[in-house]
Amino acid sequence: RKNIAILCSGGDVSGMNPALKHFVEYALKNSLNPFFVYDGYEGLIDDKIDKASYCDVAGIINKGGTKIGSSRSRRFMQKKYRAIAKQNLDHHNIEMLVVLGGDGSFRGMDIFYKEHGVKFCGIPSTIDNDIAGTSYCLGVDTSLNIIRTAIDAIRDTASSFGRAFVIETMGRECGYLALVSALTSGAELCLIPEVPYNLEQYEESFKNQIAAGRKYFLAIVSEGIKEDVREIAQWFEEKVGIEARVTILGHMQRGGNPTVYDRLMAYKFVSHAIDGLLNEQHDSVICYNDGGFTHKSIQDVAFQKYQLDSELLCHLQDLYNV
Ligand code: F6P
Repeated sequence: RKNIAILCSGGDVSGMNPALKHFVEYALKNSLNPFFVYDGYEGLIDDKIDKASYCDVAGIINKGGTKIGSSRSRRFMQKKYRAIAKQNLDHHNIEMLVVLGGDGSFRGMDIFYKEHGVKFCGIPSTIDNDIAGTSYCLGVDTSLNIIRTAIDAIRDTASSFGRAFVIETMGRECGYLALVSALTSGAELCLIPEVPYNLEQYEESFKNQIAAGRKYFLAIVSEGIKEDVREIAQWFEEKVGIEARVTILGHMQRGGNPTVYDRLMAYKFVSHAIDGLLNEQHDSVICYNDGGFTHKSIQDVAFQKYQLDSELLCHLQDLYNV
């Protein structure tokens, strides 16, 4: 029986635990011995590697985060630590790795593969949904639902008190979370890093809306925009003429029980990742597009810039007139 390991790298997402559960079950079903690497690449270097069994994954399918921990490893960027990581894998006789992470994690694995020949398959996992070559990354749906719940709650107070709320979502340089959240929450304003904006263009329309009876505004802005959220709130107060508050959603966007969709996607991503490793896909990322899964090269995934869905961008233009 061959040994196969899984690790989580970078920002955790809800969906990792269901992925771990299915990894153990699917590996055993395919006559492989499953192993966990704890704490991402850091654990690979520090030999935090252990056999995994059904018992380890019992009762975790509904839990956010990751039972085996994650990290952003600086040491893994250095050749000498990658050599130690390889020794540790050899010690456990592990020849295949499944890596849940983002493009930085995949670039690290690509170097590791080229240096030491460790076969791996990446599973796109980040709430930012900013990985080229795949339209979906594990964890995005849960994050969007957490954001939706938060915005719905904020609407209650915004409408009761007649205020503008500027709500900041995560996403680094990618506006996906903000854009989808704005469209699905009926927000009046959406600002994302990919699309240039000028607040002045909204002033007259927003004032007219207040004159016509509008009592409150919801503005969803992505953390990567050029201005600070507080400046947007100040603009509402000074230029539009409505009291404003700021809510930075922060790390709650990374937690919460995985949604049905993320549980299902975890299942599918893991099955395809293991199938690929057993079928000569040795340095790839399993990507999801148009309802299907394909293995793509690291070059096509981790060295390209993601493209925000063009249809979503059209909706942004239509709705928010940018
Ligand atoms: O990449 C995921 C993410 O949650 C980003 O949206 C955010 O900018 C960043 O990680 C936060 O990083 P940290 O958890 O290190 O504060």
